[in-house]
Amino acid sequence: MNLYINQLQKKSEFRSAVYAGDVFLNTDLNAPKALCAFAKESITAAFGGETNHQALHTLMPVTEFVELVTRLKGQFTNCLPVKEMIRDFVLEIGGNPNEYLFDVPRIRVVPNYNYLHAGVSYAYKPHRDTWYGSVDCQINTWMPVYTIQPEQTMMINPAYFSKPVKNSSVDWSLDNWINVQRSLAKENVTEEVRVHPVPLEEISNDAEIRIAGNAGEILTFSGSHLHGTVANFTEQTRFSIDFRLVHIADLLAKRGANNVDSGVADSEAGYKDFFHLSDFSHFQGANQ
Ligand SMILES: [Fe+2]
Repeated sequence: MNLYINQLQKKSEFRSAVYAGDVFLNTDLNAPKALCAFAKESITAAFGGETNHQALHTLMPVTEFVELVTRLKGQFTNCLPVKEMIRDFVLEIGGNPNEYLFDVPRIRVVPNYNYLHAGVSYAYKPHRDTWYGSVDCQINTWMPVYTIQPEQTMMINPAYFSKPVKNSSVDWSLDNWINVQRSLAKENVTEEVRVHPVPLEEISNDAEIRIAGNAGEILTFSGSHLHGTVANFTEQTRFSIDFRLVHIADLLAKRGANNVDSGVADSEAGYKDFFHLSDFSHFQGANQ
């Protein structure tokens, strides 16, 4: 795996590098920083004016926290400014918005593990997004909203990019997740009862990489990388933003990372979650 620093905007063929497993870290882009500034405003608004964001879990009972995080996620994910900022990101790296689809951005809130690690703050076990039904050409981005430490971040385990992992994705239905399970997140407070695709073998963390960045420093990587949440046992709540890009021509031509172990059969159920980056209209599927 190669790690490129501040080169996304200088490498027009970055997509094929991403599909081959390379990771890009950009510390110098304006759009991700604007997304983080907007996220901070959104957190303050959702939590009734409270600005000590990383201590929010110490200020209220977990049921109230879940309620407010649910509100924050809904507002952040569906508002127009964040979509415009994703378009700005693609423009900033020299891409053409007409060529891309995107999935609405998510804001993740990971408080201390013992306070909450299910539902709205589910601690993702090592997974590839393809196990959740993502397409092989999905380009993931991820950035912290505040400076974070290795004990709070996400991990990527590049040793498994080309190496199959026994997993339960063959039992996963993306259609069922979108239409039934996803809306149940806020009912999973103490325990995650929704069934996620998970590894069915021991994962070696020898090659695990934990990138501890600062606000708006954005990682770009293939959704086929094995990655997951680092259980946060610190007293600082972690906030992060991620969104996914799909290049339309690559999707139609079935280009992307090699599928080494995903058994999901209904990836196309996720197409309705994609929007055109050019005008934010819904993607109508491969046959439009
Ligand atoms: Fe993921």
